[in-house]
Amino acid sequence: MLTREENDLLTRTGAQTPMGKLARRYWLPALLSEELPEPDGMPIRVQLMGERLVAFRRTDGEVGLVGEFCPHRGASLALARNEENALRCIYHGWQIGCDGAVLDTPTEKPASNFKARLRQVAYPTREAGGMVWTYMGPPPDEPPFPRFAWNTLSLDHVYTVKILQESNFLQGLEGGLDPIHVQFLHRQFDTSRLAQRNVALGGALDMPPELFTVDTPYGFQAAAIRGHADPDRRYVRVTPFVMPWWTIVPFPVPEVGTGRGTHAHAWVPIDDEHCWVYYIHFDPYAPIDRAVVDRWFSWSTLLADGYVKRANAASLYMQDRTMMRTTNYSGIANAVLQDLAINETQGPIYDRRTEHLGTSDVAVITLRRRMLQAVRALMASADPIGLSTDYASIRGVALAMSADIPWEQAEAEFDRQLEPRLAGMENTRV
Ligand code: FES
Ligand SMILES: [Fe+2]
Repeated sequence: MLTREENDLLTRTGAQTPMGKLARRYWLPALLSEELPEPDGMPIRVQLMGERLVAFRRTDGEVGLVGEFCPHRGASLALARNEENALRCIYHGWQIGCDGAVLDTPTEKPASNFKARLRQVAYPTREAGGMVWTYMGPPPDEPPFPRFAWNTLSLDHVYTVKILQESNFLQGLEGGLDPIHVQFLHRQFDTSRLAQRNVALGGALDMPPELFTVDTPYGFQAAAIRGHADPDRRYVRVTPFVMPWWTIVPFPVPEVGTGRGTHAHAWVPIDDEHCWVYYIHFDPYAPIDRAVVDRWFSWSTLLADGYVKRANAASLYMQDRTMMRTTNYSGIANAVLQDLAINETQGPIYDRRTEHLGTSDVAVITLRRRMLQAVRALMASADPIGLSTDYASIRGVALAMSADIPWEQAEAEFDRQLEPRLAGMENTRV
């Protein structure tokens, strides 16, 4: 349970809010690179944490990100001409550069220095992992660009997708760190599929896990430990939470080289009642096979134009009561949609004063504690956590390992088990 003050602190991300100020101290995904396919092409409206912006691929191929409304009289720059590495408003021809400088005001006298006094909101951008990233915080505080594993891979090892979630970002993030729900919300009745999954899980038994968390400089690690078909072993999954809204969801060691790989999630606020959920499928060891990923996640049937889902609250997420009796626990066809449905039905901004947390909610409790600590530290003028982290070293791991080895050593054990598998995969490592 949270107080109203705490709930507001964690869920509100406008520019003047504590969480908004904290999140703006990190580089964050603004849109997919594929949304801006060509230089001088159509600008795209982008809304981030309540700020309305326009992204455009410049003449030189770089990406500009500026405030949506023209500094002259407020026309939308989504309609602007995209030329000469700048946007030119179609109302009266004012030209806005990528750094927010007003470069030309053709309606003023040539000698006027009027334009020198004007500045449009503008944010720096970088491209990596199939995404355009931006930094929206104070320029002197700009941190190094995060070298997450997927940001260091060539693009054939990464497949990034996004989908609209019609709720506050924190509900999605809490779901991403809640291992227990998998046994219910995502349960399949088809025992052959279940058996298949459990083989893929390295022999894990289908049972509620024991849960542990440990704080790290960037956030925390959540461990879920299940029994194993071999009683001397247990199945360990370690999921990192990385400030301000990242999780890295591991797939087990045997998945290496199948083209499925691990995926990372981010829940990036559009405003306080909507967010983009980014799914970053990546495999450091082999190129990603997009067809395999699409088969597992059904992206092509889930998504309509504009990265919105075809099923939504109005259609009760196309829940099918026959499917619910015969096929799966939820009656909702797809695991991504199951998560979105649940998070959206918690409300636009879930009011955590009314909840009742149990012992299985330990990762959710840790998440809120770490985020409240970070927000309050920033309010007291301390630096955000994790900015100098070696992001490439943050991994999610999942493996069956000896019950004698403490779960905190799962990463080292993962590497030990991985090495012989990689030995047969020459030339695939980047
Ligand atoms: S409103 Fe954009 S140039 Fe006038
Ligand atoms: Fe889920």
